[in-house]
Amino acid sequence: MQPVAIGLLGLGTVGAEVARLVMDREGAFARRVGRWVVLRKVAVRDPHKGRSLDLPIDRLSTDPVEVAGAPEVDVVVELMGGIEPARTAVLAALRAGKDVVTANKALLAEHGAEIFDAARRSGRAVAFEGAVGGGIPIIQSLGVGLAGNRFRFLAAILNGTCNFILSNMTRSGLSYDEALRQAQSLGYAEADPALDVDGTDTAHKLAILVQLAFGASVTTALIPRQGIDTLQSADIQYAAELGYTVKLLAVARDHGEAGLELRVAPRLVRRGSPLAEVTGPDNAIRTVGEPVGATLISGQGAGAGPTASAVIGDLIDVIVGRAALTARSLDLWPGGAPEPRLCSPRDVRRRSYLRF
Ligand code: NAP
Ligand code: HSE
Repeated sequence: MQPVAIGLLGLGTVGAEVARLVMDREGAFARRVGRWVVLRKVAVRDPHKGRSLDLPIDRLSTDPVEVAGAPEVDVVVELMGGIEPARTAVLAALRAGKDVVTANKALLAEHGAEIFDAARRSGRAVAFEGAVGGGIPIIQSLGVGLAGNRFRFLAAILNGTCNFILSNMTRSGLSYDEALRQAQSLGYAEADPALDVDGTDTAHKLAILVQLAFGASVTTALIPRQGIDTLQSADIQYAAELGYTVKLLAVARDHGEAGLELRVAPRLVRRGSPLAEVTGPDNAIRTVGEPVGATLISGQGAGAGPTASAVIGDLIDVIVGRAALTARSLDLWPGGAPEPRLCSPRDVRRRSYLRF
């Protein structure tokens, strides 16, 4: 049987780890999916950059759109980040009849409707477990295991960089700048870390979770958001003196006819409560659904290993055909869906007591 040929777009923090796993574990992969899996082409910005991986130069390209559409590539794994050229490459792959795996939350939050429309037209799957929660299987949980629920509430820590900064400022007394530098050197932060600390990355992830949990298509611009970039060390110290810890939370709450309340902001969380105990680059997602009740899922939310774990899981799902089944049953970002009614914080202020 022909091997499955991967076109990998991006060989940075996550892409390099995915490439390493595909090459080091090819036997285990073959047993899992019943075919050999090979890295056929890899798109990078700079083919002459020194890299830890030993890849022949003729497999490298500086044209991700060409790699995505190449006839010798079966599955495209997009790990470049940003909107362009990632959007054009993903659309080219789908139009050429290839399944896509991506961890690009910005792309899905901003262009989910266009991408999933292209996937439906071509009958292909877009798998994106790595886009939210790093190694936590939250997309599978909401999309498959918890799919029979009606969700009322979701509160989540969705940015590993911010959680790492806040925990290190609280527990180790690091300055904001030093903690951010460490998060960058550990591979947690976005190429532009402003997206982490100003709450945009958390809003991208909330938009994706809201699509899965509430069936609502919301663009990031509609989500009120505040990041951790305006916090002072004194805010964190005073919170600690009062028995609280500061967390950047994404919150979604269904207020029925009044609409859906969505927000990203730093919140005081009582020490000892489950979300307060989520530290370092970890993420956690708490949901309340009917009939399941309350659930909490947590784990490392950023970094090469956890994200590569999610990407490899998606790759297996795509190759064995499970991702296409899931995609059909979920019908994400359906065309022509009405915009959800959103409540402003003023609408819900009296009802919106906080208990995390
Ligand atoms: P990264 O380290 O910045 O790597 C980006 C890679 O893409 C680099 O190899 C770069 O090439 C390549 N690239 C960028 N623009 C390109 C272009 N125009 N043409 C060809 N290649 C291009 O990023 P990362 O941290 O691995 O993140 C990748 C994606 O995963 C992003 O969507 C990110 O949001 C998402 N993600 C990251 C994490 C994490 O913890 N880092 C977790 C979850 C999801 P060069 O190597 O030549 O510069
Ligand atoms: N920059 C992101 C974070 C990567 O820190 O959470 C994981 O999506």
